[in-house]
Amino acid sequence: MLDLTDIRSELGNHYDLAPSVDLAAEMPEIYARMDRVVSPPDFAIYAPYIKAINALKKERNAVILAHNYMTPQIYHGIADVVGDSLQLAIEATRVEADVIVQCGVHFMAETSKILNPSKTVLIPDMDAGCSLAESITAEGIAEMRAKYPGAPVVTYVNTTAEVKAASDICCTSSNAAQIVAAQESDTVIMTPDKYLAQNVAKDVPHKRIVWWDGACIVHEQFTAQDLRDFRASEPTTRIIAHPECPPDVVAEADFSGSTSGIIDYVNSERPEKALLVTECSMGSNIANAMPDVDFVGPCNMCPFMKMITLEKVLWTLHSMQGAVEVDPEVADRARVAVQRMIDVSRAQAA
Ligand code: 13P
Ligand code: SF4
Repeated sequence: MLDLTDIRSELGNHYDLAPSVDLAAEMPEIYARMDRVVSPPDFAIYAPYIKAINALKKERNAVILAHNYMTPQIYHGIADVVGDSLQLAIEATRVEADVIVQCGVHFMAETSKILNPSKTVLIPDMDAGCSLAESITAEGIAEMRAKYPGAPVVTYVNTTAEVKAASDICCTSSNAAQIVAAQESDTVIMTPDKYLAQNVAKDVPHKRIVWWDGACIVHEQFTAQDLRDFRASEPTTRIIAHPECPPDVVAEADFSGSTSGIIDYVNSERPEKALLVTECSMGSNIANAMPDVDFVGPCNMCPFMKMITLEKVLWTLHSMQGAVEVDPEVADRARVAVQRMIDVSRAQAA
């Protein structure tokens, strides 16, 4: 566990991190990307960190890969690449810089390390986990194989390297149905997200899909009744749900897709009002780019994603602590499963 008091005092010895209205005024382009959701006093607090991180990135020859659930100050202030899990994995394969700073959760940093092992991959907080990744081990995969002999194992990227290494192929929320449909077997094992599996089962009805009993602690909280009540009170608001939500929740939505799929949908449809049934920062990050859309919540935060802060990013780049390592033998096997996913996605996109 990081000691934030120590970090703050050590950083204070090297950088002037006092809130600064003057410094904030020096970065109008950055602020213009988030001024609908970040107040001027808050931006004055973030500005010194944004300046220090962007300078240190150059010094360390680092790139920052940030997930769509990062806060706006990370997403717009310091990220070099933003995206959903699949986009970040593909981008990780292309990084030429020496260092990748993964602004996201631990499995994302592991995936970057697996795909680009010669790079130093830093995560600003090692404890940034994921309820799905915690829900299954390699033994769980073996259990499923024993129960459904011969069925391929399609594993969500929200898992540890050991679990990926024990699987046949990975998937993300943006390609899960494609990957399952591409399997030759009639029965397909999906781990560890039971809701993603159940949502895919509706899209790929010719397959028998069996699943592990895991769930995302953010998306499992939404209920179909909430959405029905909301729809009754706001009939014109577009409802958009991530496929980690239970299937009866997804059934109430107008659209379901990965985090980037959600962004693309709102961007092309431009509804007057949108309810994004997913993590809170999603709406904030796209609010400025789509000023004609009113994002009406909700605000369920992922406690793991929110462990990543500007202060911790500065610390990891300053100290070079937080390097993610994956046993090379495990990484070799996990890479096969992740690369198969990328290859299937590319082949189907071509
Ligand atoms: P995406 O791949 O849709 O970005 O989802 C990742 C995630 O963790 C959502 O909870
Ligand atoms: Fe994991 Fe859910 Fe957080 Fe995504 S939102 S990182 S699936 S706990």
